[in-house]
Amino acid sequence: MKLYKVYRCVMMLLAATIVLSQLATAQSTVLTVKADKPGVAIQPNMWGIFFEDINFAADGGIYAELVKNRSFEFYEPLMGWKEAREGSATGGILIQNLSTTRPSNPRHASISWNAATGVYSLTNEGFRGMGIKKDLQYNFSLWAKTEGNVKLKIELLNASGASIGSTTISISGNEWKKHTASFTASATEPKGKLRISFEGKGSLDADMISLFPNDTWKNRPGGLRADLVQLLADLKPGFIRFPGGCIVEGHELDTRYQWKKTVGQVENRELIVNRWNTEFKHRSAPDYYQTFGLGFFEYFQLAEDIGADPLPIINCGMACQFNTSEVVPLNQLDPYLQDALDLIEFANGSTDTKWGKLRADMGHPAPFNLKMMGVGNEQWGEQYVERYKIFASAIKAKYPGIKIITSAGPSPDGPLFEYLNPILRSLNVDFIDEHYYRSPEWFLKNASRYDTYDRKGPNIFAGEYAAHTEKKVQPENKNNWESALAEAAFMTGLERNADVVQMASYAPLFAHVEGWQWTPDLIWFDNLRSFGTPNYYVQKLFSLNKGTNVLSITTGNETIAGKNGLYASAVADNNTKDVIIKVVNTGDKEQSVVIEVPGVKKASAAGTLTVIRSANAEDVNTLDNPFNVKPVEQAISLKGKSIKTVLPAGSVSIIKVKAL
Ligand code: AHR
Repeated sequence: MKLYKVYRCVMMLLAATIVLSQLATAQSTVLTVKADKPGVAIQPNMWGIFFEDINFAADGGIYAELVKNRSFEFYEPLMGWKEAREGSATGGILIQNLSTTRPSNPRHASISWNAATGVYSLTNEGFRGMGIKKDLQYNFSLWAKTEGNVKLKIELLNASGASIGSTTISISGNEWKKHTASFTASATEPKGKLRISFEGKGSLDADMISLFPNDTWKNRPGGLRADLVQLLADLKPGFIRFPGGCIVEGHELDTRYQWKKTVGQVENRELIVNRWNTEFKHRSAPDYYQTFGLGFFEYFQLAEDIGADPLPIINCGMACQFNTSEVVPLNQLDPYLQDALDLIEFANGSTDTKWGKLRADMGHPAPFNLKMMGVGNEQWGEQYVERYKIFASAIKAKYPGIKIITSAGPSPDGPLFEYLNPILRSLNVDFIDEHYYRSPEWFLKNASRYDTYDRKGPNIFAGEYAAHTEKKVQPENKNNWESALAEAAFMTGLERNADVVQMASYAPLFAHVEGWQWTPDLIWFDNLRSFGTPNYYVQKLFSLNKGTNVLSITTGNETIAGKNGLYASAVADNNTKDVIIKVVNTGDKEQSVVIEVPGVKKASAAGTLTVIRSANAEDVNTLDNPFNVKPVEQAISLKGKSIKTVLPAGSVSIIKVKAL
């Protein structure tokens, strides 16, 4: 009798549990992932980065040079420099222009002084100050010649003008020569300056006055800012597109990007104005120039360092169509074409070719393995089609293996796109580069954009995109959670259509908090600190969880692209044996889901759930609060081939189980 009672209790409990769990399932959305039917392959380089020298991304940013206008080549030759005479000291500067004999770096400063008593000095303000770190070594150099023997005091100053590290350097010899000196800073200072005091009486011709911290990326002299490169490396990007962006095109053809002027000895690289210098009245930056210390060799090297495929974009004989719209006549395109062909030789050619030898001389005999190249940036119209055809036939004739990226213009719809898109498709181009700077709503609506694209047509490169909260390019756009969430929802659509969309990159990449021209941007920095935006963490989650094959994920046999605010994609990773599911809940309520994964080999498996969310759509990360919005990981498991979880309101969840 007793035994029967126990048996009845157990049975009732069991029944209650089943009912409760059925109830829970009934209230949950059921998502089904077909893990036994791996779909199209995901390109290993699918999620990449877009680098352009906008917002002080290169000079004043990732290029670690601290001296602004080091070679006196700015439009105002002494911009960034300040002379000072103390006591009875005298002194002056004459800017000499040697454009006939030294066209790539024509100007230098002829300095003469008498500071037997008092002090004559020149101070450089840096790029909105210089970020100086306590106990770090700083490497000073200048090119100089003098008739006599002169002594200079090299000093770092803090914001109040006190010395925080110094050394002296003696210079003699009337031939141009590079002189160097190193010293250690005694304090940390975000707004430091460099002062050069000229001792006694003398004169000196000086050029390329430079100061680098010792802690550059891979400790390369004259190298890149390590914290910023690390943020890129952490994304494990599949490719890096460089050098832009509109910077490729130039405001006019004269200020287009010419890669040959950015390689070889740094002091022979011809500086030009940065086109973002005057582009926006609301963020004018008269001191924004391109020194090309970060030039094409360094871009290729950076790509190699962070494991990304290099993707250079070259000018196709057209200046920015938002500015002058200058074009090169078709019968004068040859130098532009030659630049494209020579670039492939520079990247891949053997060391006995002209450009391959230069690569080797610069320290990289092995090829950089260039596989693709963009012809033009954001060009449009028949002029583009004509020029593309000429470039494509020349490039393919000599290098049939190189894939060519073509421009679809500045928008993903509208007359310019409608004109170009069918023509590029009829030409069967390799890749069409679509750009979208649109509202968060546009991103949500377009999560299914590629579901209906022609599977046999050209591949798509989503080459520049970002959700703009204020609907257009203007300073109020924020890298807030609303924008990051919308991008994540959209990216599930890119992933689901990885057979068509083979590469994607957020844009722009970097912005100096005091020097920007364009918002939003993926990574922000000041002179000492840097942080990833919520958008950065979304990019990182997709890139680090890209998998190898797309899996179907549906609810009630429908693609998950907006119903009840849910967006989802799934992939298998055949190398790690993971099933990876990405679900974005854009709704304002949490949602329970049961994810059925009937095709997995293992019925049970441990895994991780990584969630990124924020309570308010306006939430942002800042220099002072860099991890306000960030991914948080916890354990999750597959039980009986299903996973139960709750998707918080306004969240991106990445579920990963080792079940294949
Ligand atoms: O990413 C900023 C700019 O946006 C790029 O330079 C250009 O290609 C686009 O218009």
